[in-house]
Amino acid sequence: MKHGVSTLDTMTRHARHGQPETHPREVNAHASHGEGVHTHGAHEHGSHNHAAHDHGSLADEAAMAEVIELDASLAGGYADEAAAWAAELAHGPVRSALDLGAGTGVGTLALARRFPEATLTAVDLSPMMLRRLRTAMEKSGMGERLRTVEADLDAEFDAGWAGAAGAEGGADLAWASSSLHHVTDPDRVLGSILRTLRPGGLLLVLELDELPRFLDGAGDGLATLEDRCHREMDRLGWNSHPEWSDALAGAGFRLEGRRTLEVEAGGADEANGSPPSELARFARLFLSRIRAALSSSQGSSLDGLAVEEDLAALDIADDMAALDRLLGQGPGSLEELPGLSVRTRRTAWAARRPV
Ligand SMILES: C[S@@+](CC[C@H](N)C(=O)[O-])C[C@H]1O[C@@H](n2cnc3c(N)ncnc32)[C@H](O)[C@@H]1O
Repeated sequence: MKHGVSTLDTMTRHARHGQPETHPREVNAHASHGEGVHTHGAHEHGSHNHAAHDHGSLADEAAMAEVIELDASLAGGYADEAAAWAAELAHGPVRSALDLGAGTGVGTLALARRFPEATLTAVDLSPMMLRRLRTAMEKSGMGERLRTVEADLDAEFDAGWAGAAGAEGGADLAWASSSLHHVTDPDRVLGSILRTLRPGGLLLVLELDELPRFLDGAGDGLATLEDRCHREMDRLGWNSHPEWSDALAGAGFRLEGRRTLEVEAGGADEANGSPPSELARFARLFLSRIRAALSSSQGSSLDGLAVEEDLAALDIADDMAALDRLLGQGPGSLEELPGLSVRTRRTAWAARRPV
């Protein structure tokens, strides 16, 4: 069972495009680029249904990567906080860490900074994400410690790369941020992660609790507009907030703790009162996606409505018009909204493979 679409995933439903349906097992070590292991074979999945995947366009994937990078740049402090928590909980040195569904690498980078002795293995379906991740690690001077693995977590974990993540007896640390809800059978994947860790090794799972909020400081009208949009997105199934505690215990982990990680960023430019351009861009990408979702839900549900539903549809039309003003140009647009900010809230679970 997939756990629906969650926060950043309003931009990220389309990670699986461009993947051949099956691949012969093929492991290439690109040592000269520090590229690590490239495991196409992991894409051969048995029970998993490819037809159910959302095969989107490159533009979708690039938009997803941009959203993740903007989130990391503006509100990425949560990853450092979670990595610091992992350091507190780790039993023994962390020499090998796995980032599963690594995306553009906000987690990989945080782990690399926090654990300077560690080799990082970043796993993702998307070669484009992995390329961006590598570039970011190289820019930070940490590329030497990175292995990237292009693989589908829904496939059996490949003994080669998963085992190599921990030189002796398994990885010290695994990290899955906003990725576990993507997989078809999280219980099976959690079982694989457990076996990949050494006894005493730690897993951190992170998920967003709600869609990022941009309009809290932009006046009551806009804050309540955002509330209504989020409720509608929830209703459309765009947002899921799985609770992993039972699944972690069921897979054999010992739950060490559960934390909320909240980040808020914003503040207008002193010179002209406008929000920073990165923030406005993040809000624009995100709210455009919400606007498009509202528009298609509206289109598909206008016929044969009861009176109450009819009124609800009118409210949505008003909200879409308000979003259009924000997404337009000039006065009233996001780029000129002084109270624009971003607030994200995540839950982090820390779980240990029992000794
Ligand atoms: C929402 S992004 C999160 C990225 C990153 N962990 C972060 O927190 O910013 C989800 C990532 O999981 C990857 N992904 C989704 N399903 C996957 C699967 N079955 N196997 C490997 N990666 C997957 C996507 O390509 C995407 O990069």
